[in-house]
Amino acid sequence: MLGLGQVRFRKQTYGHLARIIVSPHHRGQGLGRALCVALMRAAVRLHPITAFSLYVFPDNTNAIGLYRALGYVEKGMHPKFNCVLMEAPLTAVGPL
Ligand SMILES: CC(C)(COP(=O)(O)OP(=O)(O)OC[C@H]1O[C@@H](n2cnc3c(N)ncnc32)[C@H](O)[C@@H]1OP(=O)(O)O)[C@@H](O)C(=O)NCCC(=O)NCCS
Repeated sequence: MLGLGQVRFRKQTYGHLARIIVSPHHRGQGLGRALCVALMRAAVRLHPITAFSLYVFPDNTNAIGLYRALGYVEKGMHPKFNCVLMEAPLTAVGPL
């Protein structure tokens, strides 16, 4: 296994990515991007979503770099936990 990730239907609106991880020995080769895009495409197939969301720790610069490159933007801190909400429009997934 080279990586793992989950997507769920959040707030009847979002395809929400979670637990994204790529094997430490295989990072920087585009696998994180491919994994996220595959999960986003799965979310579009599985649920009537209108956008994407995820949470990320504010000091996780690698992950934030990946999510920004995919079209996610920061929407502010979680009200209780030390993590940033990021959202992307449906168009971020590209042509299906
Ligand atoms: C975040 C993570 C999944 C990225 O996986 P990856 O396979 O290395 O990412 P990719 O090779 O697909 O890189 C995609 C983009 O992410 C960004 N990125 C990835 N590594 C980066 C780094 N070290 N510094 C800055 N940006 C980085 C870049 O924008 C990159 O695009 P580019 O290749 O065109 O420059 C991986 O670092 C990881 O598993 N981290 C530990 C678990 C984790 O923090 N998960 C996120 C929880 S919210």
